[in-house]
Amino acid sequence: MDLTQGSHIVNADNSNTPVTPLLSIRDLSVNFGEGSHLSKAVIDLNMEVRPGEIVGLIGESGSGKTTSAHAILGILDGLPGVCSGEAEFNGHPLLPSMNKYVKISGNKIKKQNTAFQKKQFTMMHPLLGRKIAAIFQEPKSALNPYLSIKEHLLESISRSGKKIKSPESFGKDILSQVGIVDCNNVWNQYPHQLSGGMAQRVMIAMALSCSPKLIIADEPTTALDVTTQAKLLELLLKFQKEMDLSILIISHDIGVIREVANRVYVMYKGKIVEEGNIMQIINAPQAPYTQKLLQAFYNLAGEV
Ligand SMILES: Nc1ncnc2c1ncn2[C@@H]1O[C@H](COP(=O)(O)OP(=O)(O)O)[C@@H](O)[C@H]1O
Ligand SMILES: [Mg+2]
Repeated sequence: MDLTQGSHIVNADNSNTPVTPLLSIRDLSVNFGEGSHLSKAVIDLNMEVRPGEIVGLIGESGSGKTTSAHAILGILDGLPGVCSGEAEFNGHPLLPSMNKYVKISGNKIKKQNTAFQKKQFTMMHPLLGRKIAAIFQEPKSALNPYLSIKEHLLESISRSGKKIKSPESFGKDILSQVGIVDCNNVWNQYPHQLSGGMAQRVMIAMALSCSPKLIIADEPTTALDVTTQAKLLELLLKFQKEMDLSILIISHDIGVIREVANRVYVMYKGKIVEEGNIMQIINAPQAPYTQKLLQAFYNLAGEV
């Protein structure tokens, strides 16, 4: 069975009204390494997130989910890590045109990765931590061990460019909104003093502090126990409604995606093999890989 085979793409938008996407990604490809070491991590990915939508990106480990997110955020590591394709957020391009960064001399193609990444950084700078916020899998590694929670929050508030009269009380207020009861105490603590769940709440608070339009959450609950995971997903849902956020949530766990997403893209070996409304995909998966993924999930969960 060829699992890379795609189904026909199901249109999840039950209404036929065309909606301008907030985030659109077209023909994104990312390669690592060269020659015999070439690894095609993402292949011709097309995806969109519409305003107010929670979109899931699911696939097993190594399928290219994180690389896709890092490519559009401009935080790919590992050279060449070159990407091609287009990505747009609310009309702003997120990826420089690759053509300008490729030099052909004789039969050799030389990619100017550093220049490409620098250019992307300047393009992303006005958006990251302002209109787009990111939440990552390991909250404790994402936080700086030498900075207090206060310093983290004040930094993200200042980065947001919003004029806040009292950043301290604004910061503490966000901490309490994300469920940190003891926010006066936590305010002066350092990341190593927090549990994983608390650290992820801090990450969510930092993301929300800039009133973003889009949050990209890469395995935001994977490192946490099931109860904390459920609480944090609830929290994301609550803020999504209150702030009319769009969320791209990335997970290898269909249970997580099922909890929160309206629409889902299924990724396998760097390619999107199926896309559609979450319930349609769960009830009638078309692509062989999605069927296998669901079967594995049901077997694990003891559901039939
Ligand atoms: N910096 C890097 N250098 C080389 N290969 C990488 C790098 N980052 C990811 N990859 C490769 O790209 C593929 C996709 O990885 P990743 O995007 O992390 O998958 P996922 O997030 O779905 O688990 C994997 O084969 C991985 O080994
Ligand atoms: Mg990943």
